[in-house]
Amino acid sequence: MRVLVLGGTGNLGSRLHHALARRGHTVVAFVRNPAKLQSDAGTYQHRLLIEQGDGKRAAEIKDAATRHKCNAIINAAGHAAMAPWGKSDLPAIVSAVIQAALEIGQERNRPMRVWFLGGQGILEIPTENKMIVNYIPMFREHITTWNKLRDLPPSAISWSILCPGLMRPVGESPLSTPATGSVDNLSATATVPPEWSTKFLRVPVIGRYLNIMSQISSYATCYEDNAEFIANDLSQDRDSEWIFQRVGVKERQGSCL
Ligand SMILES: NC(=O)c1ccc[n+]([C@@H]2O[C@H](COP(=O)([O-])OP(=O)(O)OC[C@H]3O[C@@H](n4cnc5c(N)ncnc54)[C@H](OP(=O)(O)O)[C@@H]3O)[C@@H](O)[C@H]2O)c1
Repeated sequence: MRVLVLGGTGNLGSRLHHALARRGHTVVAFVRNPAKLQSDAGTYQHRLLIEQGDGKRAAEIKDAATRHKCNAIINAAGHAAMAPWGKSDLPAIVSAVIQAALEIGQERNRPMRVWFLGGQGILEIPTENKMIVNYIPMFREHITTWNKLRDLPPSAISWSILCPGLMRPVGESPLSTPATGSVDNLSATATVPPEWSTKFLRVPVIGRYLNIMSQISSYATCYEDNAEFIANDLSQDRDSEWIFQRVGVKERQGSCL
């Protein structure tokens, strides 16, 4: 596969380069500043192509993906503002990626395969049918991403959105030669976080807050494992079970953290 990756100078994006190239995919790194690109992909260098551009510009994304004949896009660019009133470039980047993918899909008569990044907040509390972010209003810009994807007709884009909690690197390995993660380290579920406990939900008034706060820290995952998860899924192409899904992940016991 030929995959356009936005955000390759960032924590997740740089690991995605390695995870994809190791599986034999060709990576087109779409970055604002190629000089910042520490991810030299090592022995996979020949599978890493570089395009300079702004992730807020749909035309630039479309042009890069079209010229390189990419069959998939991963958006790891932007970072959701933490505070409820905060603003970042993420909504503009997501809109541009959606626009570019829509136009390419129309021209090819085949929806583009695209992975987006959200946060754990847009997953639902099982039995509640309400998103975690409704109770803990952090990183709210991921709601905007989710609303945009949810409203797309199924024929428009074959999207998935990964919704991790806090991500951390494995050990101290540098971005240029990141540690190797494993897809087997993660359990994953659609719509709700894997293995979410319903404890405290029956406690009046504060039960839902207690329910979230008592377990949210156990959902930290490694960048490397998430990169492996997405790269592995793209190898399934259209047989992926995660198309049109919000995907929650959790480290299996004893894995990278
Ligand atoms: N880190 C976490 O704990 C965590 C948890 C859940 C979800 N997420 C989500 O996962 C995604 C990736 O996270 P991360 O930790 O890898 O982020 P990061 O390290 O902050 O990297 C962000 C990347 O976005 C790029 N970028 C920003 N604006 C851009 C633009 N206009 N055009 C092109 N590239 C642009 C940055 O490029 P420059 O180098 O040019 O600035 C950088 O490569 C984000 O959406 C984040 O909200 C993160």
